Amino acid sequence: MAPHVAIVFYSMYGHILQLVEEEARGIREAGGNVTIFKVKETLTDDVLEKMHAPKNLSTYEELDDPSVLEKFDGFLFGIPTRYGNWPAQFKAFWDKTGHQWQTGAFWGKYAGAFVSTATPGGGQESTIISAMSTFVHHGMIFVPLGYKTVFGTLADLTEVRGGSPWGAGTFAGPDGSRQPSQKELSLAYEQGKAFWTAITKQNEAVGGGAPVTEPSQKSTTQAPKQQTSTEPQHKEEHDKSGPCGLPVKCTIS
Ligand SMILES: Cc1cc2nc3c(=O)[nH]c(=O)nc-3n(C[C@H](O)[C@H](O)[C@H](O)COP(=O)(O)O)c2cc1C
Repeated sequence: MAPHVAIVFYSMYGHILQLVEEEARGIREAGGNVTIFKVKETLTDDVLEKMHAPKNLSTYEELDDPSVLEKFDGFLFGIPTRYGNWPAQFKAFWDKTGHQWQTGAFWGKYAGAFVSTATPGGGQESTIISAMSTFVHHGMIFVPLGYKTVFGTLADLTEVRGGSPWGAGTFAGPDGSRQPSQKELSLAYEQGKAFWTAITKQNEAVGGGAPVTEPSQKSTTQAPKQQTSTEPQHKEEHDKSGPCGLPVKCTIS
């Protein structure tokens, strides 16, 4: 079965949105399937107006329930940086994924990212590096853009350009007036293509099916460690308000 990719983005001023369209075009032209979601706005209309954010930037489906993503094989996240990190709108979405984190519902799925920053040095690489912690905790497999399909563009120093081997990128400028250049858009297109090609190759390598979505509890190399009576037993059970900080019973050993 061909993998199905979701592009999940936030865009306040439209720069990430333009990259979204190119990433999706790259996936489709490589023969892939893609569904696009935007994460929910968390700022009030009043604040958005003060920030000169345009209204109704896109009509893509709003993603509120993280379980919607469980049926996809891979994700490309479009992230406009905030201090080299996820914007709060994205963080609010991730903070709702405790169930997927605990059950491993995103485990083994593929993740890539593309970014927008105001300026060079504003977080093109650090934004994606910061995203790695979220990917790792969910057990997602990071698929970088790399150099293979875009060496010429990434090595070209003739003009100011966002993007890196970590993922496509654009510069919005300090006042948001700069628009993505042709080279930046081409990096997004190539990332979409390469991401889909890479995850399709992985699918074929595991027998043409979708990537494993259920983590196996069995180990074929190591027998489970037996606990002897001389070993300290640090197993504690916590209900509701235990140190796990989660609204379910948890076990700490
Ligand atoms: C609160 C805030 C923090 C920001 N932090 C940074 C930053 O650390 N580095 C940077 O280059 N740009 C920063 N920016 C600029 C945004 O990254 C820029 O507006 C965004 O990439 C534009 O993408 P969009 O049009 O898709 O919203 C910040 C913007 C806001 C509103």
